[in-house]
Amino acid sequence: MAEARVAVIMGSKNDWEVMKPAADALEQLGVACDVKVISAHRTPDRLHRYLETAEERGIEVMICGAGFAAHLAGVTASLTPLPVLGVPIDSSALQGLDALLATVQMPGGIPVATFGIGKAGAKNAGLFAGAILAGRDPQVRKKLEELRERQSAGVPEDPF
Ligand code: RP5
Repeated sequence: MAEARVAVIMGSKNDWEVMKPAADALEQLGVACDVKVISAHRTPDRLHRYLETAEERGIEVMICGAGFAAHLAGVTASLTPLPVLGVPIDSSALQGLDALLATVQMPGGIPVATFGIGKAGAKNAGLFAGAILAGRDPQVRKKLEELRERQSAGVPEDPF
């Protein structure tokens, strides 16, 4: 099993269904990921411990998914220099709008690259993590190009 280069963390086990497309996208690009449930407010020690060793274990990008106005991505970004991609999860009564604002509206100084709410955002976060790695890894770049070619080929010209 290849060493994980991307971490996909989420605030609850219940977030996995939404976050799985991030892991699936990375798998398509041949990038191993480490998937964990880590909450900034319910398991803060787990988050600190994870980030203390993430870089030395080979993690290059963090993908963080959380619902409600949880602050997993922002806290993660405050604790590591690694690029942090935030995915707002539609688990609350506000259907992810709260999570979107909590993630995207970071005060200047600690950036979180924020994606769309829900599964499409998770998929794009996985692809974007791949694009970051593609800049320094020709194999990932090739897989990303092939994936886009397949995607284009799968779009019919006629709508009927
Ligand atoms: C957030 O609270 C999690 O990311 C999750 O989306 C939400 C609800 O968590 P559960 O009550 O479903 O565990 O921190």
